[in-house]
Amino acid sequence: MRLQLLPMEESDLDEYLDVAWLAFKDEFMGLMYPNGFTDAAREFVKRRTLDDWQKYPERMRAMKVIDTDVSDDRSHGKIVGAAIWKFYSEDRTEEELQAEEKASEKRGLPSDCNPALAEEFYGNLAKCKREIMGGKAYVLLNILATLPEYHRRGIGGMHMRWGLEQADRLGLPSYLEATPMGRPLYTKLGYEMVRDLEFDARKYGCDHDIPHVCMLRPAQAMDGRP
Ligand SMILES: CC(C)(COP(=O)(O)OP(=O)(O)OC[C@H]1O[C@@H](n2cnc3c(N)ncnc32)[C@H](O)[C@@H]1OP(=O)(O)O)[C@@H](O)C(=O)NCCC(=O)NCCS
Repeated sequence: MRLQLLPMEESDLDEYLDVAWLAFKDEFMGLMYPNGFTDAAREFVKRRTLDDWQKYPERMRAMKVIDTDVSDDRSHGKIVGAAIWKFYSEDRTEEELQAEEKASEKRGLPSDCNPALAEEFYGNLAKCKREIMGGKAYVLLNILATLPEYHRRGIGGMHMRWGLEQADRLGLPSYLEATPMGRPLYTKLGYEMVRDLEFDARKYGCDHDIPHVCMLRPAQAMDGRP
């Protein structure tokens, strides 16, 4: 296994979506898409990702980790982990925030999702982000996913080190919403829990809780001390 961290290309999007679905499907995404990641759902998410990428090329950074040893006869491609970051490098005004919120509402909910769950979950996410970060400049970790058979080999850490190097170079704090699986990794890297997301997975038929939390890593001083 030889791992390499590279920027994602638009042509990687389908493979990226496979990785993200396989990483998340046994937990939250399985509830979100009760009939699986259908073609319509995939098309919606792909379009939304592409729109963001094209509209904000400076803001959105998509990264992949590839295993260069993967042979063509394997069930998956070379991408074994992916991350999507958003760099809000400048403060945004209230008007700018509202315009972005309106545009996001206009896109509606993903096709073939559980609409009540999506509305509650994404609504909560947006509300917390707004209340905690407001219009301040920061670096958002939007998605982090590793193929299950590649877990615990440092792939998540490779993405995180890259993103945090950028945040530190820019002198910005970093914010994310953590799943239970991601939380230990983020804690090791200096993120602190700032709020519970109050998402009740049992209400949607899950037999266990999936406690998501909002986490913030403060801007680091140039000498590495917070
Ligand atoms: C969170 C995730 C991205 C970590 O990726 P990774 O490539 O395994 O990350 P690393 O190997 O760098 O770090 C591993 C740490 O993550 C946690 N972790 C990773 N896989 C795990 C698993 N299957 N069960 C429990 N914890 C796990 C552990 O704390 C681990 O540290 P340790 O090995 O020292 O105990 C990966 O587990 C994943 O894709 N999970 C599903 C999707 C998800 O929850 N994403 C995070 C969204 S906020």
